[in-house]
Amino acid sequence: MTQNFAAIILAAGKGTRMKSALPKVLHEIAGRPMLGHALAVAAEAGASDVLLVTAPDQDAVRDYADKQDMTLTHAIQEQQLGTGDAVRVAFAATDKHERFVVMFGDTPLMRAEVLAALANNDADVTVLGFEPDDGAAYGRVKLDGDTPTAIFEYKDADEATRAITLCNGGAMGLSRAALEKYLPQLSNDNAQGEFYLPDFVALAHQDGATTALVMADPEDTLGVDSRAGQSKAEALMQARMRHKFLNAGVGMQDPDSVFLSFDTAIAADVTLEPHVKINGGVSIGPGTIIKAFTHLEGVTIGENAQIGPYARLRPGTNVGDEAKIGNFVETKKADIGKGAKVSHLSYIGDAELGMNVNIGAGTITCNYDGYNKHLTKIGDGAFVGSNSSLIAPVTIGKGAYLGSSSAVSKDVPDDALVVTRAPEREIKDWGRKFRARNEKKDK
Ligand code: UD1
Repeated sequence: MTQNFAAIILAAGKGTRMKSALPKVLHEIAGRPMLGHALAVAAEAGASDVLLVTAPDQDAVRDYADKQDMTLTHAIQEQQLGTGDAVRVAFAATDKHERFVVMFGDTPLMRAEVLAALANNDADVTVLGFEPDDGAAYGRVKLDGDTPTAIFEYKDADEATRAITLCNGGAMGLSRAALEKYLPQLSNDNAQGEFYLPDFVALAHQDGATTALVMADPEDTLGVDSRAGQSKAEALMQARMRHKFLNAGVGMQDPDSVFLSFDTAIAADVTLEPHVKINGGVSIGPGTIIKAFTHLEGVTIGENAQIGPYARLRPGTNVGDEAKIGNFVETKKADIGKGAKVSHLSYIGDAELGMNVNIGAGTITCNYDGYNKHLTKIGDGAFVGSNSSLIAPVTIGKGAYLGSSSAVSKDVPDDALVVTRAPEREIKDWGRKFRARNEKKDK
């Protein structure tokens, strides 16, 4: 059981290396802004409150945070004077809570169990350590036995300190008492002229307060500060999600070519063929096959259905059990009934298809008149011949048949046959005469 704590999320950094008009923490990993990942993982770890530190010009970040379903307090850091200063601003915004976990808004792979370990630890200052392959410019953690005694920022460290392999992951667990006592003691007399949060460790240790170490994987602490870093975090997140689904019984012939969204829900015994892209809001029922080069977004798919190859299912599509959507089919806001088939080259938008409906190749629902979208309804067991245009609003009755190339704008009763093509004419010898005429002209 996690003890009650508040998460302090630092997000006031400029993120200039992203070279983007969008604030860094709103850049997405697996279809969700990095800040969304931070908020979700804080909630999952049991945070009862979030204190979000942003810069004055980051209205977009605050707006995004306000739309999430969390108790959240804004703390605006006027100037980016360092991580210690950012925590000072956050702490000034609350008089509640005995335990705080500081985390960054740009570490999207942080796991809830790591934050929970920082929250549950009862030392005044709990350091998050990790052992990267390359210590790079991370802060170095000095230990006495298992107890952290100080963190040195890379720029302030001498060669012997830089040789330490235990690095500071950035996040930190803190007691109210530590914050009250050591925030006023932070100094910016260092290589970067900043107030460093990691200085809490030496202040606490020298003061006889308790310090402790919690270990993380390098992934947990991976901070994104460039587009290259964002791609790396995306790759790691995708690998994490693929691994989760493979373990849960989802088949993938080439997992590296399957892209998932943070909220993707897939049942056991689903097969995802290579080059499948799944955006937000997708759930797939057991036994269904998603064939190669299929794109899904905002879609619910039932059991034992077949989708693709080369299908594009857009938001508001619900595919029933055992239904079949074939190649080069696009759907949008469409209910496709149990056992229905839309096998080739069709657009089905703003439509309700009953059970076992068969849609012939090249069928189009003409749903848009330039101003409004209109509904097409097709009853159970209806058969729509190839190359038909269903000019909405229109209803095709149960068990009705449409001849190929029908352009239908009037409702069709149950079990009727409708044919709208012009009668076929045959002109004997027309081709031979046509060629003869034209060949004479050429001479
Ligand atoms: C920090 C640690 C370092 C650790 C590393 C792990 C400090 C001083 N150093 O360095 O020991 O190894 O994380 O990644 O803490 N931020 C604010 N306001 C500020 C400054 C920063 O909100 O005034 C936010 C940033 O938006 C960012 C986070 O704090 O999300 C970390 O700041 P950053 O300057 O990137 O720290 P690091 O150099 O990574």
